[in-house]
Amino acid sequence: MAVDVILGLQWGDEGKGKIVDYLADQYDVVCRFQGGPNAGHTIVIGENKYVLHTIPSGIFRQNILNLVGNGVVLDPITFLKEIDKLDAANIPFRDRLLISKKAHLILPTHRMLDAASEAAKGKEKIGSTLKGIGPTYMDKTGRNGLRIGDILLPDFDQRYAKLKKKHMGLLKAYPSIDFDLEKEEANWLDCIEKLRAFKQVNGEYFINQQIKAGKKILAEGAQGSMLDIDFGTYPYVTSSNTITAGVCTGLGIAPHLIGDVIGITKAYCTRVGSGPFPSELFDETGEKLRRLGHEFGATTGRPRRCGWIDLPQLKYTIMINGVTKIVLTKMDVLNDFEHISVADKYQYDGGVHDELPYDIDGTEMTVQLTEKTGWNQGLEEITDYSKLPALAKDYVSYLEKELDTPVSMVSTGPKRSELIVR
Ligand code: GDP
Ligand code: IMO
Ligand code: MG
Repeated sequence: MAVDVILGLQWGDEGKGKIVDYLADQYDVVCRFQGGPNAGHTIVIGENKYVLHTIPSGIFRQNILNLVGNGVVLDPITFLKEIDKLDAANIPFRDRLLISKKAHLILPTHRMLDAASEAAKGKEKIGSTLKGIGPTYMDKTGRNGLRIGDILLPDFDQRYAKLKKKHMGLLKAYPSIDFDLEKEEANWLDCIEKLRAFKQVNGEYFINQQIKAGKKILAEGAQGSMLDIDFGTYPYVTSSNTITAGVCTGLGIAPHLIGDVIGITKAYCTRVGSGPFPSELFDETGEKLRRLGHEFGATTGRPRRCGWIDLPQLKYTIMINGVTKIVLTKMDVLNDFEHISVADKYQYDGGVHDELPYDIDGTEMTVQLTEKTGWNQGLEEITDYSKLPALAKDYVSYLEKELDTPVSMVSTGPKRSELIVR
């Protein structure tokens, strides 16, 4: 039995939460395999809106198990806040939520280091969510990190004190920042205590046993492929492998077990934080996309940068991930556009290209735009692909042909029901 994957093909916020929630009831286990509370996955059920940061988006479906995989970095404070919100909403989930013992812990001093490092970068800052992601993965690869399993060990306090001491030393290299460590630490230790009550597993054994038993697994990516530590717009990226390959290391499954790779893209493009964005719009059209798409970060509330859909960028992430199906989200945001553009090529070094240059920031480049006529009508209530306006279908067909990958779903609003499944 294969493990299907859902991940973002752009710079994050493609609508992964909504699609994972929709598909979750066709699976037995939903797993997060990387990232941490830098993610904000929004799920709208009826009149209720939930934003998940660490907990997998299968949690709202009864009977579905949810695993926080070893590739994830977990902040007990954010995690417990999510738990409280689920409790307040009367969602029964405790026996369905499992955490891999090998997932790494985010300490208050990791967040402090993140903030100090960003402040020191000045104009070159990454635009991090400041959730401590980079410093935590640095400790993981530097072999200094604390893991979830450690909180049950008798010498956890000493291990914590040792890592905190190391961080305090590192912080001396930076100008001081505004951070109430004492308060944050007290809260964190309180949350660690509560975290001990949650079910920990050897995630790699658990998931392989599930696969052997014929269970269906869905791996839920966070961030987007253009934020991947290896293949994204480095250094303006996150600190994990957000691509399909990350599923193997982030859960402990072999590559041949990967099945469908469902790549999600908005019908346009956004990015939050710093770094190159070739098809970005700096004009009223970009402003209109932001307004109609409510493009403000689910984790930080920051306005997202907006632009047209970018074909060379998508061809790149489809290639790296081995995407078998595309889900096109936020199609409805384009309802009121007379013309919709598609960035179909890049122009740089005196030529027209289909490939991203090595140094996007340092390369003088422009995008070549193809203009499409907009459908100029609402898509509400449409659940049958054949009922879409002809011009909307033309847009989908154009993308399918150019990207050489089928579009299996078109999302037309934030709600579960606002989805066309082909
Ligand atoms: P994620 O990080 O990929 O899960 O995406 P986010 O939750 O950060 O951002 C996606 C936003 O778009 C959320 O506010 C969703 O509720 C919303 N959304 C998802 N799909 C659609 C859609 O098809 N149309 C509209 N208008 N909003 C959508
Ligand atoms: P979801 O899962 C959009 C961006 C940040 C910043 C860069 C590094 O909701 O799609 P980090 O906090 O990881 O050090 O930030 O990555 N970023 C995201 N952008 N969606 C996300 O997650 C993101 N997670 C991180 O804005 O530019
Ligand atoms: Mg998000």
